[in-house]
Amino acid sequence: MAEPAGANDPVRVRVPAKINLRLSVGAPRADGFHPLDTVYQAISLYDEITIRPADRLRLTLDGVGADTLPTDGGNLAVRAATLLADRLGVPPNVAIHLHKRIPLAGGLAGGSADAAAVLVGCDALWGGGHDPAALAVLAADLGSDVPFLVIGGTARGTGRGELVEPVPAAGPWHWVVAAADGGLSTPRVYGQLDLLRAAGAAPPAALASERDAAASYGDAVGSARDGIAAEATGHTPSPVPDRLLAALRSDDPADLAAALANDLQPASIALRPALRRTLDAGLAAGALAAMVSGSGPSCLCLAADAADAARIAAELTERGVCSAAHVAVGPVAGATVLA
Ligand code: C5P
Repeated sequence: MAEPAGANDPVRVRVPAKINLRLSVGAPRADGFHPLDTVYQAISLYDEITIRPADRLRLTLDGVGADTLPTDGGNLAVRAATLLADRLGVPPNVAIHLHKRIPLAGGLAGGSADAAAVLVGCDALWGGGHDPAALAVLAADLGSDVPFLVIGGTARGTGRGELVEPVPAAGPWHWVVAAADGGLSTPRVYGQLDLLRAAGAAPPAALASERDAAASYGDAVGSARDGIAAEATGHTPSPVPDRLLAALRSDDPADLAAALANDLQPASIALRPALRRTLDAGLAAGALAAMVSGSGPSCLCLAADAADAARIAAELTERGVCSAAHVAVGPVAGATVLA
């Protein structure tokens, strides 16, 4: 934790995007959320947040998509400041500036990242003295992904994604993030998965997690899997397989590539069929695996090394299958106060 800042010093916070290395989704709960068993990883694609004392709570933004985002209580960053101020019994009088680099509504939790950064930054500014685990508990009130972005690294997420527990991981892993024009609504993608499952057009959770996302993205399930399909209820997400945990401890990206999976992928592709082209282009360019990131529409390619990642990013850009291609490494730390 950072020391409390001086009364008028600005606090600068850097916060990463998140990806899901594996996302198993169960049937919706009574509160509408879907139970998850996921493995998150924080990657080196960052928003930067500056927080300074002010006469009232204010939010300004610049960077990617900044002109489309709310600056009032509709922005999770504002809600994060209000929540922590209430908790500490102080007035939420800060001017927050968000410099956005994480693509919006892209399946990378950019809005959740900013909320995590504001929690960490305001806690430093106000001398709250919360450790990351305590802030992560508070963060769960703001959104399912916010606790992970306080903690960062690589972590398993259960519940609706808000219960996070670090997972040992080697790395660095080399990723290419292919951003798309226009976002996808997260509730809409979850709803689409429910519809596909009701129609038998997407595998239930226990089965979906067995798929190798790189090999079978978006495709119907092969007959060899029918026996498992009959047993799977899809009501509970399936636990993280040992194969993924072992791959994370190993240094071989091919092992990790074989263990990546995302139950939301068929739903994202159903809503945005062009994503198939992006994934195909990633594999054709030499990615070890290509997968939709979270609810999409950003796509992820896992590369063998940094040089391959740069080459894949250039090829995706050249082929016009994404709006921008970013190289990133993971895991990296969660929201961090900069010196
Ligand atoms: O938690 P968060 O506010 O980020 O979730 C946004 C929306 O995504 C929820 O309102 C819900 O529709 C959907 N969601 C879900 N199950 C989850 C996480 C999110 O259905 N585990």
